[in-house]
Amino acid sequence: MERTLVIVKPDGVQRGLIGEITTRLENRGLKLVGMKFIHMSRELAEIHYRIHKGKRFYDGLIDYITSAPVVLQVWEGPNVIMAVRHTLGATNPIEADPGTIRADYGMQMERNLIHGSDGPDTAAAEIANFFEADEILEWTRCTDPWILV
Ligand code: RTP
Ligand code: MG
Repeated sequence: MERTLVIVKPDGVQRGLIGEITTRLENRGLKLVGMKFIHMSRELAEIHYRIHKGKRFYDGLIDYITSAPVVLQVWEGPNVIMAVRHTLGATNPIEADPGTIRADYGMQMERNLIHGSDGPDTAAAEIANFFEADEILEWTRCTDPWILV
């Protein structure tokens, strides 16, 4: 089953949106299989965002993601990567569709509240950056037959 990494970024935590963001993903039918509350080190941030190294927004991005605690979540489900990206909305909240998290709560790209992996390879690498294998739980959700066939 596909997995993806979600990060409730420092602005999402500071604004008290951990519950709201998590609820939206739960309501969609995604299954939570891993979760941590950490203050991200620069070392982990630089690995996570290495693809953006050298871009003009890179230093600000590292400062932002390491500025305060974040929630790390691993979600599982069929097509979960796309499901999360659509629930998040476009990178720039001003361009995000109404009803998405970024459109409903955000104003600027530099404070867009949440991260979601953008493909299977990046998801696997990102999850491995923050979670040991035994921190991902395999569990049976009693509502599964009412959400997935
Ligand atoms: P994310 O990785 O956080 O889920 O966001 P994304 O795929 O939608 O966007 P990405 O291109 O991967 O960029 C990562 C994060 O960097 C910040 N950003 N700032 N000022 C800028 O031009 C700019 N571009 C990107 C955003 O916080 C974005 O989520
Ligand atoms: Mg990205």
